[in-house]
Amino acid sequence: MPTATINGKEVTVPRGTAIIRAAAMLGINVPHFCYHPALSAPANCRMCLVEVEKARKLEPACYLKVTDGMVVHTESEKVVAARQAVLEFILINHPVDCPICDQAGECKLQDYYMAYDAKPSRLTTGKVGKVKVYPIGPEVVYDGERCILCTRCVRFCDQITGTSELTVVDRGDRSEIRTFPGRELDNPYSMNVTDICPVGALTTRDFRFKCRVWLMTSTDSICTGCARGCSVHLDHYLGETQRYRPRFNPEVNEYWMCDEGRLSYKRLNANRSGALRVGERDDLSWPRAARMIAGALADAQLQPDQIAFVASADASTEALVAGHEYALNILRAGRFYWTGRADGEGDAFLRCADRNPNRAGLVHSFGEQILERGADRLLKDLKSGGIRALFMMSSALPFGREAVEELAAEARKLDIFILATSHAGSLSSAATVSLPVAKHSEQTGTWVNIDGVAQTVDAAYAPPGVAIADWDVYRRLAAGADAEWPLDSVDAIHARIFSDEAAE
Ligand code: SF4
Ligand code: SF4
Ligand code: FES
Repeated sequence: MPTATINGKEVTVPRGTAIIRAAAMLGINVPHFCYHPALSAPANCRMCLVEVEKARKLEPACYLKVTDGMVVHTESEKVVAARQAVLEFILINHPVDCPICDQAGECKLQDYYMAYDAKPSRLTTGKVGKVKVYPIGPEVVYDGERCILCTRCVRFCDQITGTSELTVVDRGDRSEIRTFPGRELDNPYSMNVTDICPVGALTTRDFRFKCRVWLMTSTDSICTGCARGCSVHLDHYLGETQRYRPRFNPEVNEYWMCDEGRLSYKRLNANRSGALRVGERDDLSWPRAARMIAGALADAQLQPDQIAFVASADASTEALVAGHEYALNILRAGRFYWTGRADGEGDAFLRCADRNPNRAGLVHSFGEQILERGADRLLKDLKSGGIRALFMMSSALPFGREAVEELAAEARKLDIFILATSHAGSLSSAATVSLPVAKHSEQTGTWVNIDGVAQTVDAAYAPPGVAIADWDVYRRLAAGADAEWPLDSVDAIHARIFSDEAAE
C-alpha cells in the first residue's frame, strides 16, 4: 500500500487510490466539478489540479493515483492560481443568474467562486447564449447557460442506469447537453442527475422555484416508497417536507434513489389528519378518549374471535411491537390481519416490487402467518359476519377506491371501528374512533428493509393537531384501560425487540 504526504500529512492508501480520495481520508477537500466517486473520472473540468512534487505540471487529483513517496500540495500558490483561472474560464459564458437559480445555496460554482475567485468579470464582450428551461425529460429541466459540461449527467446515464439518453452536442463554447434524437431523459432514476449536477443546469420540475434551500432544514430519514428503504435527506420548511434527496448509504442505496420514491414525499403533506374523534366528539383529550374507548370495549363484552386487529406493513417496528402487545393483552383480539400497498414494478437496481417499507418489521412482530391474511381476506371476513370490533393501524390499502368504499361500508356496520390514521379519508369518516398518528417524518421509528437493514429515523418536525407517534397510541390506550404497560418509551420497545432477537 503506497504512502503519500498531502499538505504535510502522511496517508497510506490501497494501491490505485486517486489523490482526491487519499486527501479526503485526511479530511482535505480538493475542489472538483466533474469527479464523482461512483462514476468514471474523465478529468475534464481541471478544477482539482494539485501540485505534485517532481511533476512537470499541475496534475488532476481525481485521476492521478497515489504512488509511494508522493508529496502533494493542494493549496499552494500555483494551485490556487490555477483554480482561479478555471473558475474565470467557466464563468466567461455563465449567466450568473444565482438569484433565480434553485441551486443557489448548494452550488459548487458559487461556493468555489466565493472561496477562490471572488472578483468582478474582466469580460467586455457579450456572453454566448444557450437554451434555458429546456425540457430534457418529463421530470428534469436543463439550462444550457448554467451547464459547465462536466458530463456527470451523461456518465450517470451510461454507467449507473445503462440507459445512455444523454450526450454532449456541438463544439467549444457552443457545446451543450442533449438527449439522442427521439429520446427523452425518462428512465426511472432520471432525477438523480439533478443531485449530481454541480450547478443549477439540471433541476427537477417538482422543486423548481419552490423553496430557497437556505430556508429548509435537512433531517436524515428514509424513503418509505418500497421495501428498499433508501436513505434520504428529508428537507423541510415550516412543518412540511419540500423534497427528498438521496443520502449515501453503502448498505442500501449508495448515492441514488428512484424518481417514484423521490416524489413519494408528497404523501407526507397531503390530506393529513390531526384530529382525535370519538363518535361525534372531536374535542377530547387523549386520556379522556382512551378511557371512553376502554369503556366502550368493556361494555361490548366481546369474545376474542369477534375482535380483529389489522397491522400495517407501512408502520415502524416500534409501532408494530407496541400494537401487537396491545392487541394481544389489552384489546384481546382473536383475529389478525395485515394491510399494505399493492405490489408495483421492481427492477434489478433499487426499486422493489414490494411497495411496503416494513414487511420485515410486520413479520417480526406478528409472525410469518399474518401474511396469509391480507386486506382481501379482511373484507371477506367482515362481509361474512362474526367480527364486531375492528382496530386498524394507519396504512395504505392494496386495492382501489371502490374496495376501500366497500371496506368502509362494512366497517360502519361494526359495534366499534377504531382507526389509528395519519390521513383523513372515507375510512376515517367510517370509524367510530379516529386516532391521529404521526408519519415517519414526525416520529422516531425503525424500518427494516428487504435485506434486513434496520434504519432508525428521528422526527423532522411535529405532527399536525394532536397526532402522536403511533407506538405512543397504545401506551395511551393501555393507560385508559388501567392496564399495565411495559412499553412506555422507544427505549423500552427497543429493549423488547433486542430481547426477542436474542431469543430467536
Ligand atoms: S448538466 Fe450539469 S451534470 Fe450535466 S454536464 Fe452540465 S453541469 Fe455537468
Ligand atoms: S427504490 Fe424504493 S425506497 Fe428507494 S427511492 Fe425508490 S421507492 Fe423509495
Ligand atoms: S474533478 Fe478532476 S478534472 Fe474535474
